[in-house]
Amino acid sequence: MKIVGSNILITGASGGIGGAISRQLAKQGASLVLVSRDDDSLQKMGRELRDSGNNAIAITCDLGQAGQPAALIEEALKRRGGIDILINCAGIQNFGFFADEKPADTEALFTVNTMVPIALINAVLPHMLAKGSGRIVNVGSIFGSIGFPCFAAYSASKFALRGFSEALRRELASSGVGVTYVAPRFTRTPFNRGPVTRMAEILKMNQDDPERVARQVVSAIENDGRDRYLGWPEKIFVRINSILPRLVDASLIKQVELMRPFATESTR
Ligand SMILES: NC(=O)c1ccc[n+]([C@@H]2O[C@H](COP(=O)([O-])OP(=O)(O)OC[C@H]3O[C@@H](n4cnc5c(N)ncnc54)[C@H](OP(=O)(O)O)[C@@H]3O)[C@@H](O)[C@H]2O)c1
Repeated sequence: MKIVGSNILITGASGGIGGAISRQLAKQGASLVLVSRDDDSLQKMGRELRDSGNNAIAITCDLGQAGQPAALIEEALKRRGGIDILINCAGIQNFGFFADEKPADTEALFTVNTMVPIALINAVLPHMLAKGSGRIVNVGSIFGSIGFPCFAAYSASKFALRGFSEALRRELASSGVGVTYVAPRFTRTPFNRGPVTRMAEILKMNQDDPERVARQVVSAIENDGRDRYLGWPEKIFVRINSILPRLVDASLIKQVELMRPFATESTR
């Protein structure tokens, strides 16, 4: 899909990956609607893009609050006249042993990672279908294909987003509206802090910069991509896990002992 001149709404725009995607799209001449909760960092991002010549607008919104996703789409449509591309990038993470996870935290995770993207798509889809064109981009995770210990609820929230993306893509096949699912691996952003970052070093997890992830997202949009799994050998592990999950069981079960001190620290 053409980026120049398109109206793009991106959630999580103040974050590491969302910020990098926003900068790259702005450079290519998209009209951006930036969304996140923290007004200061979002306004700062809006100013940065406008100073470099983009017409970005920032809408501060806690998408986890009931009714906010639909209200956001309504406001964006009013201010921009249309939304050609919706990028669902906002996300949160729960790390630790699931027995220690508070039910309210699990609920908040599913709300932001799964229910919010679905609600935003539900609100924007009638407008895209009426126009006969549009693209939805859902930012998932490699953990949305490989159930990862100590990230049980997070993995499940991204499995759900991936399944939703696949089903919707099939449903919309002849509509002119496409669905892209992008699955990054560990990326150096504020998303990973403290024990998660230290654990990633111990487990020798491959790490990407957000700019690299953003380039993949932008290229997936330009090429009407279906899904992109980022990183080598992670994309192969995704395939192996879907065909021979028991092979992956052994190596991930072994890692639980290495993860234990970090997971315990995270939920203390
Ligand atoms: N970093 C990684 O290792 C990694 C790996 C795979 C996948 N991902 C996925 O990539 C996406 C972006 O991650 P990131 O690394 O850029 O994370 P990040 O730097 O922590 O950014 C997260 C963004 O989501 C926004 N957000 C969170 N809760 C929100 C809410 N209730 N309402 C509105 N906005 C909300 C945050 O802004 P406010 O806090 O201001 O609201 C922020 O802009 C996420 O979906 C994540 O699951 C990340």
